[in-house]
Amino acid sequence: MAVIIDGKAVSKKLLEQIKNEAELYEKKPCLAVIIVGNDAASKIYVNNKRKTALELGFKSIVTELPEDVTETALIKEIEKLNNDTTVNAILVQLPLPKHINSAKILETIKPEKDADCFHPSNVGKIAVNGKVFVYPCTPKGILSLLDEYKISVAGKNVVVVGRSNIVGRPLAMMLLNKDATVTICHSKTKNLSEITKQADILISAAGNPKFIKKDMVKDRAIIIDVGITRDSNGKLSGDIDFENVKENSSYITPVPGGVGPMTICSLMQNTLDLFKLQNK
Ligand code: GUN
Repeated sequence: MAVIIDGKAVSKKLLEQIKNEAELYEKKPCLAVIIVGNDAASKIYVNNKRKTALELGFKSIVTELPEDVTETALIKEIEKLNNDTTVNAILVQLPLPKHINSAKILETIKPEKDADCFHPSNVGKIAVNGKVFVYPCTPKGILSLLDEYKISVAGKNVVVVGRSNIVGRPLAMMLLNKDATVTICHSKTKNLSEITKQADILISAAGNPKFIKKDMVKDRAIIIDVGITRDSNGKLSGDIDFENVKENSSYITPVPGGVGPMTICSLMQNTLDLFKLQNK
């Protein structure tokens, strides 16, 4: 029976540390979030970000723009925040409506205020194992969780399922930078289970509920589930069939309560780190 990794508890502990550190400063870190449109899940995420920021004593700015906002108007809002010296960290909630070029929007955010590390100049620094301002929130949260459980990735076979710019790609680079042997799989991968069965650490960020079963997983593997899908009854499911897989794995993250709470924790850490860089 696996150790169930408690992301909620780790996140609570780290948030407490962030709060204590932030209290040492007279000025308060400020996180600005832009949300476009009415996506229900995005609204919940943004509310949680605001709530957590305020709990830590941070300043929180949330700019809500209508679904039909023009690209030019959105860019103007970002530039306002770029030029506002009281704002330390900027995040544009994704996904954006289809008429907006997301890549162009992410390039508008000043790299020094890029809370997500989505600007190509910041992503490029991860790719060359350079020094970044901050790391992308979900990959950083996963590595923090592994750290807390004293799980080293160096020399391990780590298989990442999913190649999104938010999780899979940056995570794979960050694992490589920590000396893991990394394989990235995705929707076009052939013989997926042959590859996942090689994993000492399997990380799934595909958004395909319960598709990873025990016959796809090596005995005693470490299983990290980044997938969050809501079924028609509103119940959350991860990519891993938890009940089916947990018996044979050594560590496993639940959904909810695994990786999810770590993402917001990383965002708060990033906000504090950007604030410190800007107030040196
Ligand atoms: N949408 C889902 N996850 C994320 C994230 O980590 N950052 C942003 N900006 N949008 C998201």
